[in-house]
Amino acid sequence: MTSLDDFIANVPKAELHLHIEGTLEPELMFALGARNGIDTGYGSTDEVRAAYQFGNLQDFLDIYYAGANVLVTEQDFYDLAWAYLQKAHAQNVIHAEIMFDPQTHTDRGIAFDTVISGLTRALDDARIEFGMSAGLILSFLRHLDEASAQRTLDQGLDHRDKIIAIGLDSSELGHPPEKFARVFARARNEGFRVIAHAGEEGPPAYVSDALDILKVVRIDHGVRAVEDPALVARLVQAEIPLTVCPLSNVRLGVFKTMADHPLKDMLKAGLKATVNSDDPAYFGGYMNENFSATAAALDLSQDDIIALIRNSFDAAFLPPAETAALHQRLDAYVNSTA
Ligand code: ADE
Ligand code: ZN
Repeated sequence: MTSLDDFIANVPKAELHLHIEGTLEPELMFALGARNGIDTGYGSTDEVRAAYQFGNLQDFLDIYYAGANVLVTEQDFYDLAWAYLQKAHAQNVIHAEIMFDPQTHTDRGIAFDTVISGLTRALDDARIEFGMSAGLILSFLRHLDEASAQRTLDQGLDHRDKIIAIGLDSSELGHPPEKFARVFARARNEGFRVIAHAGEEGPPAYVSDALDILKVVRIDHGVRAVEDPALVARLVQAEIPLTVCPLSNVRLGVFKTMADHPLKDMLKAGLKATVNSDDPAYFGGYMNENFSATAAALDLSQDDIIALIRNSFDAAFLPPAETAALHQRLDAYVNSTA
């Protein structure tokens, strides 16, 4: 472990791009499968891990949605979220904004209330036990139709106090932002902040369309924006945060190797980039592994790491006093290591 890895491991940080279904480790998948009498389709956890070779986003999504079949009861959703929150706390994540995909579960006959109650109970416990702040982002699946997203928003409205934002994820290519223009307009009218995955596999135009049509205040991924200098200038000028997920991008073939990842160039260009883990059980690492892998491949400095963390605090959906408190905890840590 380098001294920078040590700094990374211990520095207080925030995670803004995390799919709770993507934190399902093979061991928990088997335990929940056994508890619910559901066959995972795999013989062992080693076999599960060996299957995690993805050529692209869709290869991954097919396996990820199948894995979620073991999640049935409120306790399952609690256990899933609690396992993540414990791991995040151990990695000094002090604030987490967590996406969940209700349609992955409601389409299997699981009640929306079951999903959100289990997740919320775990977040409440993390606040009490770890002093960690966390919120839920309800994400629509973009491979499903608008009517399904509208029904999901209706269900979300009954739990609006538990939801900090509305998002959009799943298969990007062929499902452009305009497909969800109306449901996003309704979400905004209902008072929700909105965000969307854009420019992961999709072209830079999906990033501009997410801003112009969906009126998102934050972009998930956004890495393909670097292909369009005018878009980069716009994102810099408007200070739009980008929740970048380096290990995910390499595992899904967005970039061939970590050395090819544009994260450092993005920072240099003045983009409000942040580092996140996306689906850590599938992509080989949580927050610290994402920071360490990028730092090693791109020769990031301690100041680069601090800048990425400050960007995430500024991009968090928190009241100003809570954002300031996050920065103060970072200041205290940095001063203690100086
Ligand atoms: N759902 C979970 N992870 C995702 C990703 N990286 N892109 C789109 N949808 C997702
Ligand atoms: Zn994602």
